[in-house]
Amino acid sequence: MKAIAKPTGIVELSMEVNGEPVSATVPARTLLADFLRDRLRLTGTHLGCEHGICGACTILMDGNPVRSCIMLAAQADGASLTTVEGITPKEGLGPLQRAFKDHHGLQCGFCTPGILMTLTAADPKDYPDDDAIRELLAGNLCRCTGYHNIVAAVRAAWGRDVRGAEGERPGREGDA
Ligand code: FES
Ligand code: FES
Repeated sequence: MKAIAKPTGIVELSMEVNGEPVSATVPARTLLADFLRDRLRLTGTHLGCEHGICGACTILMDGNPVRSCIMLAAQADGASLTTVEGITPKEGLGPLQRAFKDHHGLQCGFCTPGILMTLTAADPKDYPDDDAIRELLAGNLCRCTGYHNIVAAVRAAWGRDVRGAEGERPGREGDA
């Protein structure tokens, strides 16, 4: 379904968000990230740069990762959306989240929801080694971790040796 703006600049939307039907009326200029955060209170979707660079706002639209800060809510009319709340069990953590916790794949955590969504959409077979994992995550900027433990967490979540091909011990880059 395509949302059509009324002369008032208002659009009517209906979509599925985390498996639940959602209908809303919003100004046509409403950004998708703002709609999710402010209207639906799904604040796990973070806003960093707000111009499509950092990846913090990544969600899935019909199974594909998109940057919700550079999309209008109207563009998601009729779509099925998944946010980080949608991959989080009612109690505890999902396997990817558990791996990030266990292997210290985050510090401030601001980038983490976007990274989790990028990984959720990825098929591990397409990312057979650490270089491929780093390339997959190149669109999700993390200013804290140096990515070392993020890659270790992905290895663990994907059932690989958490020490990596070189047998390296998980730890922050630069650790002694
Ligand atoms: S907030 Fe959307 S890419 Fe940075
Ligand atoms: S953990 Fe702080 S930006 Fe990634």
